Amino acid sequence: MIYQTVEGEEVPALGLGTWRVTGDDCREAIADALKIGYRHIDTAQAYENEAEVGEALAESDLDRDEIFLVTKVWPSNLEPEALHRSVDRSLGKLQTGYVDLLYVHWPAGGFEMNATMEALRTQKEEGNARRLGVSNFTPDLLEAAMERAPLFALQVEYHPFLDQRELIGRCREHDLLFTSYSPLARGEVLDDETLQSIAEAHGKTPAQVALRWQVQQDHVAAIPKASSAKHRRDNFEIFDFELSQKEMNAIFDLARGERIVAPDQLAPAAWG
Ligand SMILES: NC(=O)c1ccc[n+]([C@@H]2O[C@H](COP(=O)([O-])OP(=O)(O)OC[C@H]3O[C@@H](n4cnc5c(N)ncnc54)[C@H](OP(=O)(O)O)[C@@H]3O)[C@@H](O)[C@H]2O)c1
Repeated sequence: MIYQTVEGEEVPALGLGTWRVTGDDCREAIADALKIGYRHIDTAQAYENEAEVGEALAESDLDRDEIFLVTKVWPSNLEPEALHRSVDRSLGKLQTGYVDLLYVHWPAGGFEMNATMEALRTQKEEGNARRLGVSNFTPDLLEAAMERAPLFALQVEYHPFLDQRELIGRCREHDLLFTSYSPLARGEVLDDETLQSIAEAHGKTPAQVALRWQVQQDHVAAIPKASSAKHRRDNFEIFDFELSQKEMNAIFDLARGERIVAPDQLAPAAWG
C-alpha cells in the first residue's frame, strides 16, 4: 500500500468506492475487499448501503481503528439540524461511534456556506467525525469552506482525461488529501492507446496504470468502484511497479477536460 501523508497522518492511497453496490453484493464486496487488504472504504448517505458496509465491518476481524471509513452528507441534509440528525443515522447504520472522514457531498440543496460548514465543524468537535471534507467544490468554494471549518480532504472526479492540476495544487498548498472519484473514468481508461502501451510495458492493465498514476501523485488517493471480485483484486495490484516520470507525463498529456459526473441539480454553476 502507498499512504499519503496529510497533517502528519497516513491515509491509504487506494480505497474502495461503493456507489451502486448494495445489499448482499455490498456486504460481500466489503468482506472480500478487507481480505484483499483494502483499509479505506468510501460510502455515502445517498448510496443506500451504509447499513451493509456497517454489517460487513462489524463481522470482520479487524479493529475499528484499522479502517479509514468515509461517508458523505447528502444535499437534502445540509441544513444544520438535518445534518446532525442524518449523521447520527449514518453512524447507527455504520455501527460505529465515528467516521474517519465526513464529507459534504455536493454544495447544493440545503447547502449554505456559513451554516453548513459550522454544522460540519460541530460534528468534528463532538467526535462523530475525526476529519472533515468537501466534495465537488470548486477552488473558490474550497477556499471559502476552509476559512469556516478545519478541512482535511477534497473529493472530486479525477482520471487521465480530466485535468485537476489547479485543485491538486491547492490541496498540496493547504495540506489536504485529494481523493479521486471515478478514477477509471468508469472504464473508459481501458480503451486508451497510451495507457494500453504503458500497461503492456509493465505487464499490467490500463486500469492498473491509471490507478498507479494517481497514487504516485503526492496527496492523491483513488477510490475505484469494483463490484467484480477480479477487478477488486486487480486494482490492489498496483504496488509492485512504478511509472517513470516520462510515463507519468504521457498520462498527464491525455487530459481533455472530460467531466463524467455533473448532475444538473447538483453541479456548481462554475462548471458551466
Ligand atoms: N463524491 C461524489 O460525488 C462521487 C461521484 C461519483 C463516484 N464517487 C465515488 O467514487 C467511486 C468510484 O467512481 P465510479 O464508480 O464513478 O467510477 P470508476 O471507479 O472510475 O469506475 C467503475 C467501473 O469500472 C469498472 N472497473 C473497476 N475496476 C476495473 C478494472 N480493474 N478493470 C476494468 N474495469 C474495472 C467497474 O466494474 P465492476 O463494478 O463490474 O467491477 C465499474 O464499471 C464510487 O463508487 C463512489 O464511491 C463519488
